[in-house]
Amino acid sequence: MEQVVVLGSLNMDQVIRVKKMPKKGETILGLGMSKVPGGKGANQAYAIGRLGGKVSMIGAVGQDESGQILKKNLDSVGVNTDCVMELSDVSTGNAVITVDQEAENSIIVLQGANAELTTAHIDAFKEMISEADVVLMQLEIPVEVVEYTAKMASEMGKTVILDPAPAVPDLPETLLKYIDVIKPNETELSVLSGMPVTNLEEAAAAAKKLLKKGVAKVIVTMGADGSLLVTEDEIRHFPSEKVKAIDTTAAGDSFIAAFVVAITGGKSCEEAIVYGNRISAVTVTRKGAQTSIPDKTEVPL
Ligand code: RIB
Repeated sequence: MEQVVVLGSLNMDQVIRVKKMPKKGETILGLGMSKVPGGKGANQAYAIGRLGGKVSMIGAVGQDESGQILKKNLDSVGVNTDCVMELSDVSTGNAVITVDQEAENSIIVLQGANAELTTAHIDAFKEMISEADVVLMQLEIPVEVVEYTAKMASEMGKTVILDPAPAVPDLPETLLKYIDVIKPNETELSVLSGMPVTNLEEAAAAAKKLLKKGVAKVIVTMGADGSLLVTEDEIRHFPSEKVKAIDTTAAGDSFIAAFVVAITGGKSCEEAIVYGNRISAVTVTRKGAQTSIPDKTEVPL
């Protein structure tokens, strides 16, 4: 099993369940509230650990209770948290998540300590990156840190994977050219490409635009419509597993984590996508972010 480094965010999620999402200017009554460990980076590191991968995390929390809970949760599944810094004078990242009865969510992130990561931190953690085979990142930390790390990791010969969430338009080509695999969902792909993405044909066309900017492989996750692999040589659709979803939070995180566990365990890209689909199908049948992720005994590779 190869070694993975996840560079990214750690958030404490405040999850509010609602019947329907509120409209602009509307007040609604919630059905319940819970506090769950989250953050795209931490969710992905946690899922890799839970699925049996060898993983270290680089990130930052504040010196507060949420930071301790988040680090402990990662430790509990064997994630190396030596490079998760506890910064003073800033709070741990928070996310306010609303989940409706259709299992859809909307998320607002307050970055807190995640926004304090700098390229100097990455230099300090260079050894950890040099020991990894795969470096996995998202966009809940400063984009210049992601770009700096992608260049460093790529020049060291690592496989660089980006989950471009939350999506920003016009991601610099100076970042995209270092990316081996990018995994947007339909909404993120539409933002990144500036093109509509409402079906598989549109997804393939938008993904090709990212290939032109230097990305080697695009995997589009499309919820119930499955996943689409787009490379220079192939366009291949992978249907999703049919399940009754109750909460789609961390579906993308568990997909990419499972994908990484599979490729670092010697599987092909295609086999890894199938495993990603299987893991995310289970994740959406459970509530919360890290609380919803299955382990390797429930869904073996
Ligand atoms: O992908 C889900 C995650 O997005 C949540 O856990 C939340 O913290 C935000 O980062």
